[in-house]
Amino acid sequence: MPVDFYSKLTNARGVYTFRDFVLVPGRSDVEPSKVDLSINLTKQIHLNLPLVSSPMDTVTESDMAIALAREGGLGIIHRNMPIEEQVENAKRVKRAESFIIRDVVTITPDQKISDALELMHNKSISGLPVVSDGDRIVGILTKRDVNFADPNVSVREAMTSEVIVAGPEVTIEEAKKIMNKRKVEKLPVVDKNRKLMGLITIKDVYSRERFPLATRDSQGRLLVGAAVSPYDIERAKALEKHVDLLVSDVAHFHNTNILEAAKKLTNEVFVEFIAGNLGTIEGTKDTIEALDGHVAGIRAGVGSGSICVTSEVTKAGAPTLFAVSQIAVALQELGVEIPIIADGGIRAAGDGALALAAGASAIMMGNVFAGCTESPGGLIKIGGKYYKPYRGMGSMASRQKRFAMDRYNQPAKGIAEGVEGVVPYRGDVSTVVEEFASGLRASFGYAGATSVKDLWQKAKFGAVTAAGVDEMRPHSIILPGEEKI
Ligand code: IMP
Repeated sequence: MPVDFYSKLTNARGVYTFRDFVLVPGRSDVEPSKVDLSINLTKQIHLNLPLVSSPMDTVTESDMAIALAREGGLGIIHRNMPIEEQVENAKRVKRAESFIIRDVVTITPDQKISDALELMHNKSISGLPVVSDGDRIVGILTKRDVNFADPNVSVREAMTSEVIVAGPEVTIEEAKKIMNKRKVEKLPVVDKNRKLMGLITIKDVYSRERFPLATRDSQGRLLVGAAVSPYDIERAKALEKHVDLLVSDVAHFHNTNILEAAKKLTNEVFVEFIAGNLGTIEGTKDTIEALDGHVAGIRAGVGSGSICVTSEVTKAGAPTLFAVSQIAVALQELGVEIPIIADGGIRAAGDGALALAAGASAIMMGNVFAGCTESPGGLIKIGGKYYKPYRGMGSMASRQKRFAMDRYNQPAKGIAEGVEGVVPYRGDVSTVVEEFASGLRASFGYAGATSVKDLWQKAKFGAVTAAGVDEMRPHSIILPGEEKI
């Protein structure tokens, strides 16, 4: 069959991006404050806000993941570090708070106060349950107890031996009541034989009240995800017990070798797996077929990231909005419900709303979160303004770091597919998320939608012309800082 070269051009489909559309206002009786932004990120993971931070070395380590999970979103720890370090980052998120701490650090009555001081210092904790014969609680040693004790005396002599405890069925409200009434900051949880089963701290109780939207697991710990290469089963296995989901971190998942590697990985690792990145109907169908029920979510978008030069260098790309719609179509045709995460190119809430309207359940952002206090890297002052570093994971600097320590990432491709630079400092995650969520709520209000699923039904897209792009932003005005002399 001769190739019809000309029809390749004339039959080309539109690959639309955020700037091509607006949400056409619809009839609405929706109060933005009443909009429910909660979503399912996977079959098992429910988020109160549809926001996920990119696994990038200038975006998500434990501080970002903790801050974002507290606000109701989720952080994906990047993989540009040794396996042990990535596991440690995940553990730090899990340790940040919990209703009942299960791996309690304890001490025995015969140890010295100096041992207790060392333990408290090394583990950054302020109290130690004292246990003897088979983990039975016999006392508690608080900061107050050790502060006034001779370091050479035994724990037995300094500890408080009348310990206020709770049973294993205690609820958070009951725990709070007991701690307030008895004026204690630590409440050991014991079984009927006074065997220590866990510890509740007043700090964790208050944290639950301070962050009512936080995404938590059944033990009250914050949720966290981690990025892996589909080839890196060793990393996936090391992470599996410490994270709530693994996220594939390759630019082009629709590749025979990657699909095979991901199939092997998902058969050997028992934690939810988000596949990606994908951007086409065919890619989605091949993925679902190859991974046979193991796809918990899909990362959508190839080439739209703000640091991405993939499309510029290779002319290959599936812009995020287009990618979301294609994947949504494929999933619908297959009759499966798998959440889609729109990834790349989202600059503000309006882009996020479009991504959700096109069929996504969540929004993944690098640039926006890189500008937050909690991203790795310090503030950079340029001309009186503050910035934070931001770079693509395919940038030369980022790749060099990865090649140096990760044998699964040999420099197969000689070209950089990302750039490095700085982004404006935006403040704390809590402020940025609040602003973003308000923007989303306002968009939903215009569309007349009360939830993401309602938006899928009700959103109407309006196509913007090039002239419209210029008109639909501030114009014909000189803004402060933009004066030209
Ligand atoms: P942003 O929010 O527009 O900055 O896009 C972030 C997304 O860009 C990430 O979640 C990745 O999917 C993607 N990405 C990260 N690093 C690179 C790169 O070096 N080249 C291309 N895409 C990248």
